[in-house]
Amino acid sequence: MGNSERKGFASSFGAIAAAAGSAIGLGNIWRFPYTVGANGGGAFLCIYILFVFLLGVPLMMGELMVGRKAQKDVLGAYKVLSPTHKGWLSLGWLSLITAFLIYSFYSVVAGWTVNYVVLSASGRFMGETPAAISQIFAEFTSHPWIPVLYMGIFVALTAIIVTKGVQKGIEKSCKVLMPVLFILMFVLCIRSVTLPGASKGIDFLFNPDFSKINGGAILSALGQALFSLSLGMGCLVTYGSYIRKQDNLLKTSVVIASADTLIAVMSGVAIFPAVFAFGLSPASGPSLVYEVLPNVFNAMAFGTVFAVFFFLLLSIAALTSTISLLEILVAWGVEELHQSRTKATILCSTGIFLLGAVCALSFGPLSHITICGLTIFDLFDKLTATYFMPIGALALAVFIGWHLTKEETFDELSNSGSLKCSYYKAWRFIVRYIAPIALFVVLVAGSLGIEF
Ligand code: PFF
Repeated sequence: MGNSERKGFASSFGAIAAAAGSAIGLGNIWRFPYTVGANGGGAFLCIYILFVFLLGVPLMMGELMVGRKAQKDVLGAYKVLSPTHKGWLSLGWLSLITAFLIYSFYSVVAGWTVNYVVLSASGRFMGETPAAISQIFAEFTSHPWIPVLYMGIFVALTAIIVTKGVQKGIEKSCKVLMPVLFILMFVLCIRSVTLPGASKGIDFLFNPDFSKINGGAILSALGQALFSLSLGMGCLVTYGSYIRKQDNLLKTSVVIASADTLIAVMSGVAIFPAVFAFGLSPASGPSLVYEVLPNVFNAMAFGTVFAVFFFLLLSIAALTSTISLLEILVAWGVEELHQSRTKATILCSTGIFLLGAVCALSFGPLSHITICGLTIFDLFDKLTATYFMPIGALALAVFIGWHLTKEETFDELSNSGSLKCSYYKAWRFIVRYIAPIALFVVLVAGSLGIEF
């Protein structure tokens, strides 16, 4: 696809909806609660929010800007913007590898979600005790082929949408669904906070106890913020290349980060009161949401209807995120390897399916395979969110703050001076100094497990 034929998002709203669709997904509703749960609650939430707005928004603007300026896929963008310093290409490669790894384990959880639509619709959780519900989850995820089947269905669905291209597939599917998900989350929150014993959960989430925070927890908060915003791995470079020049990137980024954080916090409000009300553990890891929510639905009038509807919407939220993950890889295949869109989609999706199957089976037949004490699924999750994305974000900050010139970045953010850019000085200061230093310190302190 030559630059002249490059199709972008048709409107500012479409662009925001697509990028928000990428950001809002399992990261908010599945990963956020269990990461908060494993890191002690309220204090972690404070640090998370600080990262989202202090570092996340400026870096999101920067990443979108890189894509829009280059009008290229993630690898092509660094080729175009840094023709003489080929070292920056490694940032493009890191992004591609991270997208591949994230997509492979993410599609497993997306598959679980689809299976929960089916299980809820067939009344499988109805009237079951919390212990029995946990047992159903354990049995299903350790099954030798069912999780692989659902994961495969999900990967195929994503591939079909991505083959259709940017405007028809991605933009349309994101516009309607996000608001509906929001309303459903709201209903869930109300039910959860009115359960008997719910106040303990509210306390856990909103009453910060900073003695629970160490270097590892801060690094996890950073990783979660980046994961949730789809930041530091080329997704926003790719989407940025489809955004129109006249769109204001500050506004776009603030809207996305705010919507994303709101959904994450709502998910916490829906989960933690229920965790305590049903006597479950907040630190139970990736299974948390799937073990907790069926209990909440059981305690609701029309619980089955709500459950089906909720898991369906969560599947769709996951789909708008997997679309963006696959788009990173497909844009690269099309623009750098000169493949047709269909061929690139099929090749990438087949690779993802094979790796995803290994991740899916790491809850069952392959659970004995561990590396550094982690199963393959946990390893991919930890490696990408805790190391690859923060490293990618650090390199991105250096690229936009130090490699690109002041004129280049000002010109792109202000659309050659036609947009007001009064925030420019503050933005540049953050991406040049605050972001690289903060990211470096958090990465080093977190990796060394430093206690404060
Ligand atoms: N931000 C997505 C979520 O929170 O579910 C996950 C994700 C999508 C991460 C796309 C990275 C990405 F490029």
